[in-house]
Amino acid sequence: MTDDSAAAEESKFSQRVKIQSILGRSDKGAGLAGQKVRIGGWVRSGREADKGKMVFLEVNDGSCPGNLQVIVHAEIQKLSDVVATGTCVHVFGLLKEPPRGVKQRIELHVEEVIFVGKVDAAKYPLPKTRFKLPLEHLRDVVHLRPRTQVISTIARIRNALAFATHTFFQQHGFVYVNTPIITTSDCEGAGEMFQVTTILNDAEKLEKELKEHPAPSEADISASELALKEKGDAVAQLKSAKASKSEITAAVAELTKAKENLSKLHERSKLSERSRLTAGIPKRDGKIDYTEDFFARQAFLTVSGQLQVETYACALGDVYTFGPTFRAEHSHTSRHLAEFWMVEPEIAFADINDDMNCAESYVRFLCQWLLDRCFDDMEVIVELIDKTAIERLEMVASTQFHRITYTEAVAILEEASKVKRFENKVEWGIDLASEHERFLTEEKFKSPVIVYNYPKEIKAFYMKVNEDNKTVAAMDVLVPKVGELIGGSQREENYEVIKDRILEMGLPLEPYEWYLDLRRYGTVKHSGFGLGFERMILFATGMDNIRDVIPFPRYPGKADL
Ligand code: 4AD
Ligand code: MG
Repeated sequence: MTDDSAAAEESKFSQRVKIQSILGRSDKGAGLAGQKVRIGGWVRSGREADKGKMVFLEVNDGSCPGNLQVIVHAEIQKLSDVVATGTCVHVFGLLKEPPRGVKQRIELHVEEVIFVGKVDAAKYPLPKTRFKLPLEHLRDVVHLRPRTQVISTIARIRNALAFATHTFFQQHGFVYVNTPIITTSDCEGAGEMFQVTTILNDAEKLEKELKEHPAPSEADISASELALKEKGDAVAQLKSAKASKSEITAAVAELTKAKENLSKLHERSKLSERSRLTAGIPKRDGKIDYTEDFFARQAFLTVSGQLQVETYACALGDVYTFGPTFRAEHSHTSRHLAEFWMVEPEIAFADINDDMNCAESYVRFLCQWLLDRCFDDMEVIVELIDKTAIERLEMVASTQFHRITYTEAVAILEEASKVKRFENKVEWGIDLASEHERFLTEEKFKSPVIVYNYPKEIKAFYMKVNEDNKTVAAMDVLVPKVGELIGGSQREENYEVIKDRILEMGLPLEPYEWYLDLRRYGTVKHSGFGLGFERMILFATGMDNIRDVIPFPRYPGKADL
């Protein structure tokens, strides 16, 4: 990408040359020898040499996995201030070819130190270590872990996959639509939604406020009632005495004030009673009264943008949404997060086959993109995480996915269970467990597999019912290391059928009326899917735990920062 003959490129919006533009060249920076540059980054490791007269610093600025070797002499800088791991250094100096026999092709000899952000090595949570830092330990320092080799590499790969996602869909004419994060519809109907409410805050605020300013006593209220009566009498007297207009107006104003005062006292005494009886939660007929909540109804964090993005598909044709989704699943697995990102295209005039074709093209495009644009990061992954990661990307980018029906998948699993023990029993009608999915993709086919036409009982209400009336046009893309990467379907476009499905599943019709309108007015065959973005990163990198491929993981008991 970089033109090796050119000078080191100044970063446009910061005062430095990014290390990537030095080490990312095909000559690994050698051609830049003799040039003077300013760089900035954080010391990954430092060591003293020449009896304390100089230090060698491995500096990383996050622009690429490689570190630039930076040499500082004692005449220029107090060495103990820059040698600790984690120190920020902003320095100017001369690029030189190092002596033969070392692995670097270029190093920086510092002539001027512009800034040092010091670190107390005894306290820094990420000390220099010869061993791979345990990722589990890093989850307790999510604010510092991006400085480590693995987490920064994952961050760049994640960024590349997001860019690739937009590129793929934009190239195919899809319109990016932002669907709401706060929603009143449960897309999957699985009851795993986080509720959004201000009722609890309000109750706590009220309790605190009542402590500071206690509710009015009975005597306060009686006094206020008496005052109101007096003001009323005063107005009546003035009127019967035919007093001047201005006198009457003044007395009426006083009366109004007294009324307001009394109603305020009543209101506060009601609130205080509520605080005492129901801990401040508004109730009606024994149930929480959501008409008093922020949205005047129950609201949740979305589990999927699908239902809303369908409204745009049924007007703009091909659309996609890419945003955070939330599920309050109490699963402590390495494949589930409470907050994760999903890419959800929705295609009008498309059936389940079009949907599978789109999903397959998209996943293969992502793999090819990483091979083309992120090779240096993928090499780090191969070295530190998974030796087969690059091979896997090459395999997926170049081979067609297997496609089998659910019925075929069950037959394969039943056959396999004669010689292999699965923890979950296999029979037609079950929801495939992770062990089944992984068997199909890792052992049976050794490649991605798309399973389609699932029993309707185990799938969501919006999926198209097939002619057999037993299965729905649903599809899951299963990949090695992860299992389910994508879930999608053709949507039921027939008004009567989908209405019956909603009722059959015991869901209320009212919240879905707008969704039914898409079938009432100008219905269209359409299909879509959701790709779990973190699962894609797991698959691409071979990382073991989904908590390490999202910057700020949220899971039961954990929501740091
Ligand atoms: O299969 P799911 O539940 O499908 C839907 O939500 C559809 N509404 C999508 C659509 O058709 N537009 O979820 C889609 C994908 C899964 O295949 C999985 O990769 C990922 O989202 N996923 C999770 N990823 C991380 N943590 C969780 N708790 C996840 N739940 C689902
Ligand atoms: Mg699914």
